[in-house]
Amino acid sequence: MGGQAAMCSAKKKWLSNDIFFLLKDGAIYLWDYRNHIQFQISVSEFERLVTFSTGDFVSDTADDVSIDSSGVLCEVKPTDDWGWDVLSKIFHIGTSHPNPPTPDKPEMYIEYAKSYLDFCKSIHKNEPNIFLIKGGKKTLLPPPNLSAIKEASLWETLLARHTCRDFFDTPISISSLATILYGTLADKKETDYDAPIGAQKFGFRRTSPSAGGLQATEGYVWVQNVEDLDPGIYHYICEQHTLERVRDLPPEVLSTYLCGQHWANNLAFAIFFTSRFDKLWWKYPHSRAYRPMLLDVGHLSQTANLLITALGLHPWLTGYFHDKEINELLEVNLPSEQVIFLVGAGHGTGSSYTREVRELLDGS
Ligand SMILES: Cc1cc2nc3c(=O)[nH]c(=O)nc-3n(C[C@H](O)[C@H](O)[C@H](O)COP(=O)(O)O)c2cc1C
Repeated sequence: MGGQAAMCSAKKKWLSNDIFFLLKDGAIYLWDYRNHIQFQISVSEFERLVTFSTGDFVSDTADDVSIDSSGVLCEVKPTDDWGWDVLSKIFHIGTSHPNPPTPDKPEMYIEYAKSYLDFCKSIHKNEPNIFLIKGGKKTLLPPPNLSAIKEASLWETLLARHTCRDFFDTPISISSLATILYGTLADKKETDYDAPIGAQKFGFRRTSPSAGGLQATEGYVWVQNVEDLDPGIYHYICEQHTLERVRDLPPEVLSTYLCGQHWANNLAFAIFFTSRFDKLWWKYPHSRAYRPMLLDVGHLSQTANLLITALGLHPWLTGYFHDKEINELLEVNLPSEQVIFLVGAGHGTGSSYTREVRELLDGS
């Protein structure tokens, strides 16, 4: 397993439960995900680790010395008080910072700035495509109705925003869809940012912040009931404020893909947010970047929710859906792009409860 041989005591020890095993290319790897350390282990060490999972005394055999020195044995039997299954635990702990904070050193600030610039330079040559264009037939959207957004008070909009689960089967204007897509996803060209001379500029800016400035989120629109726009699935080209057609709507209603959430079927449109992992893999190769990937989508979702509300429409949102089938519908570039979330909108009563829930409540 490697590591310095430590003095073995005849103490009983237990295998940490913050580990997992990986079989790859004919080798066994022990992954200590709390400490971010991986060891290649032998079959005999693996068998010994199985024994330690129920507790055993550490002997002075080579395997025991090696296992003990790796730090994966505990003096007390580990407990497991994690409320979900082990996958989320591996992810959450495995992407937590393994080291304690280091003291602040002002004399190092210039060095940190240098290494930041060197890092940017080093990755610059391999940068992924900034703008996704899939090649479908294009429809230029009308300009956004910015006066409606400018007139809306931020506070009133925040107060008014709520999740609706009761929509009318009525159309919305293409101008509203254009405004929501523009305000959420468009390249904010008019407020371009400074890139100091010598710094590498990557990508573009939107109204929402984005980890690493990557703007890795894409928007695909399920258009169902929008005036002057054929129903279908479209991809929004954020640099051009243009929709490109991906395909016709499938014969199934939208809720088929949303685990039966049938109140979505009367939405005028729904934006599927996908994430382009290739952008994150390029800049942040550690799985910790999965966290900001989700958070990025959350920021865009809230922006869309507020714009929808400011335009007098009702929003609905979900992350509960059939990922595989939606990825196929959207024709994303698997595995480096995947669907993450949905925000839809339409006219409706504004009720948080479905008609059926209200009926049951009224009858009770
Ligand atoms: C990340 C996230 C996932 C959600 N998933 C669903 C969902 O699958 N179905 C649904 O009807 N509402 C969903 N919602 C909406 C919440 O149920 C709603 O925001 C919550 O009940 C609070 O109500 P409000 O939005 O009206 O303030 C989700 C909200 C968020 C932020």
